[in-house]
Amino acid sequence: MSKIEIRNHPKFYNVFISGPQDKLKLYTRNLDVGKRIYGERLISYKGMEYREWDPFRSKLAALILENPITNFLSDNLKCLYLGASSGTSISHLSDIIYSGIIYGVEFAERSMRQLIQNSSNRKNIIPILGDARFPDSYGKYIFTNIDLIYQDVAQPRQAEIALGNCTYYLKNEGVLILVIKSQSIDSIQKSELTFAQEKKILETAGYTILESINIHKYAANHMVLIVKKAIN
Ligand SMILES: C[S@@+](CC[C@H](N)C(=O)[O-])C[C@H]1O[C@@H](n2cnc3c(N)ncnc32)[C@H](O)[C@@H]1O
Repeated sequence: MSKIEIRNHPKFYNVFISGPQDKLKLYTRNLDVGKRIYGERLISYKGMEYREWDPFRSKLAALILENPITNFLSDNLKCLYLGASSGTSISHLSDIIYSGIIYGVEFAERSMRQLIQNSSNRKNIIPILGDARFPDSYGKYIFTNIDLIYQDVAQPRQAEIALGNCTYYLKNEGVLILVIKSQSIDSIQKSELTFAQEKKILETAGYTILESINIHKYAANHMVLIVKKAIN
């Protein structure tokens, strides 16, 4: 029997926590019981199985641990996830929004093969082999309005890629979560400049930056923007 006491996250729907505030651990309830995606710990608690959610492996977990004000999760969210990779974060998102849907776009064939294997029992993930720089190229696979776009592609021109996808798919008042990686690992000043430039591109297009969250503690040179689309 596990001694861990798991409780609801005070804000984020279907996210679970254990431990004291300064050593908080995150969990999601496993939709695919018995299956691990990236070697994460599985914990049985009161008849349910939980997957420990590692903020050093998932920037979405890092973002939640940094306690953003905006509550962007609900059980029936329709999401477009750009840079799905082999499924680390998207699998936790799939646990959280179990009655919603996630279109996971990834352009590396090897990662896509792993993602397909990892999500075969998860009915709310639709893996799409596609390039996020060309949003029109995967339009035929996306058949709902999108409430949330999550982008983590580690590419140059991150804000422009996000805008292209928001224009195509994000509903008005929808939320974009943009993970920005600064290429300048040598200089904090250059990193700050990159972040400011990416923000400016979004603001000039009429989007509102709700929050900028620094996740350097878990992922060096990374910042996460929470952005709202409100185009009249
Ligand atoms: C940092 S990893 C994403 C990790 C993932 N978000 C997670 O937490 O599990 C970046 C991923 O984006 C993919 N990627 C990079 N550029 C892309 C593009 N233009 N279109 C689609 N995927 C892309 C890479 O192949 C890689 O798998």
